[in-house]
Amino acid sequence: SSQKLWSGRFDKTTDRLVEAYTASVHVDRRLAVQDIRGSMAHARMLGEQGVLPPDDVEAIVSGLDQILAEVNSGAFVWRDELEDVHMNIESRLTELIGDAGKKLHTGRSRNDQVALDFRLYVDEALKRWQDGLEELVAVLVRRAEEHRRTLLPGCTHLQPAQPVSLAQHLLAYAWMFRRDHARAEDALKRVRVSPLGAAALSGTTYPLDPAMAAREVGFPEVFANSMDAVSDRDFVMESVFIAAVTMAHLSRLCEELILWANPAFGFVRLPDAFATGSSIMPQKKNPDVAELMRGKTGRVYGALMSLMTLVKGLPLTYNRDLQEDKEPFFDADKTVETSLRLMASMMAEMEFVPERMLALLRKGYLNATELADYLVGKKLPFRDAHHVVGRAVAFAEDQGRPLEELSLQELQSFSPLIQEDVFSVLDYHQAVARRSGRGGTGEAPVQNQISELKAWLTAS
Ligand code: ARG
Repeated sequence: SSQKLWSGRFDKTTDRLVEAYTASVHVDRRLAVQDIRGSMAHARMLGEQGVLPPDDVEAIVSGLDQILAEVNSGAFVWRDELEDVHMNIESRLTELIGDAGKKLHTGRSRNDQVALDFRLYVDEALKRWQDGLEELVAVLVRRAEEHRRTLLPGCTHLQPAQPVSLAQHLLAYAWMFRRDHARAEDALKRVRVSPLGAAALSGTTYPLDPAMAAREVGFPEVFANSMDAVSDRDFVMESVFIAAVTMAHLSRLCEELILWANPAFGFVRLPDAFATGSSIMPQKKNPDVAELMRGKTGRVYGALMSLMTLVKGLPLTYNRDLQEDKEPFFDADKTVETSLRLMASMMAEMEFVPERMLALLRKGYLNATELADYLVGKKLPFRDAHHVVGRAVAFAEDQGRPLEELSLQELQSFSPLIQEDVFSVLDYHQAVARRSGRGGTGEAPVQNQISELKAWLTAS
């Protein structure tokens, strides 16, 4: 195996199993672009500070440019025995430009280097998630607009509770995803901090300019404490937490789509492109995408738990354990990003079935609260009204009829306060329309939500 960059104090070569066990290049080669950006920033800063002569800086930057092209074209030869992405790139640089390549690592350690690379990657990932979240919110808002007058049974305890508009139901998810977006925005403030200049753990004796290095990579902030800078992985934990919450939201929506696709509900017909058949049962159309998304939520929770556990027992500062921080992040990143994209296209094409929603609405006594509120309007104390309506529902249920199909005389047998005007109160659309206060399912507050979300989408 080839000469290690740190082989000076070693006489014997590394055990083969150890080499395989400690190598991370198969995972962290995904940081190649970030590593090159970081190295260019470091080299330029070294030049500016007079630590390296301009010729060396120029050679380093153009060598790194060539390596970037090799990486992008797939021509770059990755070598396991060179351990990780950093040493693979540095040794190729020296191969290409000779001695100047050996000066790149002046005043730097892989500890601040890897922290920077990872921060650059997480920065991009969070922005990709934000794009996916915006796309999904836009679709939900669009579908909500189409279905402002579509009603369905709103549930608590998964039992029919009160009528709501489909718009209100879809917008509830839009707000969740908007919060996930806001969480990512907030996390970015802590991700976009450059650790370059912290070196191994204590800073360096070279006259570095960490602020310039930060500017070069486009980060607005610089680390405050070298020991914290090389061992902090909050930014990873926090980001994967955001991915986990996003997946929780997606998974809840998946669960509803799965239920709604069941013929007992029949609220949606899955777009063919998002369903699969059964190898044995010809009638089947299965919601596999939604099921897998619900399932993959577990992977992201697992990634979060891996990271939390990884960090909890580590003394300051860098420990090799930290090399295990990338795989869970990459896995969570891929899962959340593809899930967001898929959900957006699935929701865009989802076929809603308003007739089925209305049919179930009429079977569940979802206007019982309306009748109670009506009696309160006629000065009956709410608790008494609740009891009266309970008895009316029991009677109607016995006969298999909805409340609005009882005759006025039948209704009056439960309370003489009930008059002809009760029937408009029992109307489901009226019930929804009356909820016109802030954030309610009435038309005006739903329209306000749509406008607010649209304004946000335009601004972001
Ligand atoms: N591959 C290492 C990681 O991902 C890079 C930093 C190694 N530093 C060290 N001192 N061994 O964490």
